[in-house]
Amino acid sequence: MAEEQVTAVGNEMSASFLAAKKRSDETMAALKENPDKFTMLTGDRPTGRLHLGHYFGSIRERVAMQNLGVNTNIIIADYQVITDRDTTEHIEDNVLNLVLDYVAAGIDPNKTMIYTHSAVPAENQLMLPFLSLVTEAELHRNPTVKSEMEASGHALTGLLLTYPVHQACDILFCKANVVPIGKDNLPHVEITRTIARRFNERYAKKHPVFPEPSAILSEAPEIPGLDGRKMSKSYGNSIMLGATAEETAKLIKKSRTDSERKVTYDPVNRPEVSALLTTAGLVTGRDPKDIAEEIGDAGAGALKAYVTKSVNEFLAPHRERRAELAKDMDTIRDILHDGNKRANEIAEQTLDEVREAMGMKY
Ligand code: TRP
Repeated sequence: MAEEQVTAVGNEMSASFLAAKKRSDETMAALKENPDKFTMLTGDRPTGRLHLGHYFGSIRERVAMQNLGVNTNIIIADYQVITDRDTTEHIEDNVLNLVLDYVAAGIDPNKTMIYTHSAVPAENQLMLPFLSLVTEAELHRNPTVKSEMEASGHALTGLLLTYPVHQACDILFCKANVVPIGKDNLPHVEITRTIARRFNERYAKKHPVFPEPSAILSEAPEIPGLDGRKMSKSYGNSIMLGATAEETAKLIKKSRTDSERKVTYDPVNRPEVSALLTTAGLVTGRDPKDIAEEIGDAGAGALKAYVTKSVNEFLAPHRERRAELAKDMDTIRDILHDGNKRANEIAEQTLDEVREAMGMKY
């Protein structure tokens, strides 16, 4: 959950993006045919609460894969929090609230393993052999690492520089072959593929240990924040899944629009009005243009009333389940403890195979 997902991959038409998109589409088609042949791993950094952008961009698809019968796994990447900031304040609260939102959104802990990065030593030990498989130049070339460093205003730490490698550990410890991500994370999946390939070539030619995972790029349109910029906690423009209906109403009410009375859908020239329309479109499943036409001369006030009503209606069942779950935080912790236990078993097993392949079983 990069707070401000930097579009680091740059030009979407670049050859590597197009190749990744093609692989993503082909993999999704194969996955729908044979879901049980696929292991998914993806996750979030516990830097804050999940918002509607996360829901439409990733959570909804995780639930769909889970329900298709894919072996689904979610990492709460707590160590990634300190890649670009120097505090772990509120981390426990953020972690528990992620679990609440996942489960409220339909993630079933009996089907999907939810675990925290810091709880799995054997996963982290993969870091040492993996670091030997990448060069310093390759690490420095990663466009997302570069832009995250710039956005953080901090000097490049060793952890930030090597974070694509521990993301490779996240993905490969459970031998995931599908990794749903936003395009900012594409370079990390690319390096994961390289690491898997090099490990197999170097140590495990006969019996490859790791798959070369495919990134799965979301089909959902990117949901803009209420001001037309990217939905981001730091801009205060995000509708949180766990906010109350009143908080949501207030946020929408104070969102800026423009001076033109008639409501039209025009993302380039009228980003704020269009962001409201896009939001309403996603939560109602309607075309934003139809909504604009319907509201027309009734103006921004009527638009905001419509957005508020439709967002709150859409989120009401989620919020109800969330509130119910939050009454019993022991169960939420148990979900995490079970996931961590299972993740440790899987990681031990994989690390064992790695030691075996490397001739390090004494
Ligand atoms: N880097 C991801 C983000 O910023 C979170 C993440 C951590 C992740 N480990 C992962 C995503 C492994 C996919 C696979 O949101």
